[in-house]
Amino acid sequence: MGTFQVIDHPLIQHKLTIIRQTKTGTKEFREIVNEIAMLMGYEISRNLPLEDVEIETPITKTVQKQLAGKKLAIVPILRAGIGMVDGILSLIPAAKVGHIGMYRDEETLQPVEYLVKLPEDIDQRQIFVVDPMLATGGSAILAIDSLKKRGATNIKFVCLVSAPEGVKALQEAHPDIDIYTAALDDHLNEHGYIVPGLGDAGDRLFGTK
Ligand code: PRP
Ligand code: URA
Repeated sequence: MGTFQVIDHPLIQHKLTIIRQTKTGTKEFREIVNEIAMLMGYEISRNLPLEDVEIETPITKTVQKQLAGKKLAIVPILRAGIGMVDGILSLIPAAKVGHIGMYRDEETLQPVEYLVKLPEDIDQRQIFVVDPMLATGGSAILAIDSLKKRGATNIKFVCLVSAPEGVKALQEAHPDIDIYTAALDDHLNEHGYIVPGLGDAGDRLFGTK
């Protein structure tokens, strides 16, 4: 069974409170989403494997640790997931980036896939799927279905705000994956928006409506 973790560091909670507010404009929203993603990146990379390396300090030879160079991929769910990529890349700059394009049909709330572009060896990579919002869970479930169909086995899902309904649906559909969220909100409203949430993450990031 995968784990479920709320990463509620005080800096993250403070920044989340800023982006939840209607008065926060696109520029600040975009900057802060990346800052939160970077802070979460610190936590989600906690279990990356290390290996021994022999080095020379000015004083002596010694064996120390370095990242084992396990292959990573960050996979944003378009559009809003793009907002989290640079923050994570600032910590893990060598990661490859794949894209899965998906939108929610506003009537049915069902996700529709429109693009999949992934590193060739995605089946061998540790994958971080990123999307600021986990609402009904439909988009995350379909994106992970899509990755698994292409051989991916090692997947973590990282979001900023989640609804209990989406967490449950994702855990039921993909019990093997670890889920990280900065906040677990109260519920979904009748339009599938997270309450209290932050509104439409894609529109707020890109200044669309
Ligand atoms: C939003 C969000 C998630 C999805 C979450 O995307 O970025 O991908 O909704 O909802 P769900 O859990 O109910 O599937 P949206 O469909 O608004 O597309 P966008 O990112 O292009 O704005
Ligand atoms: N997608 C969003 O962008 N916001 C929500 O609250 C739910 C889905």
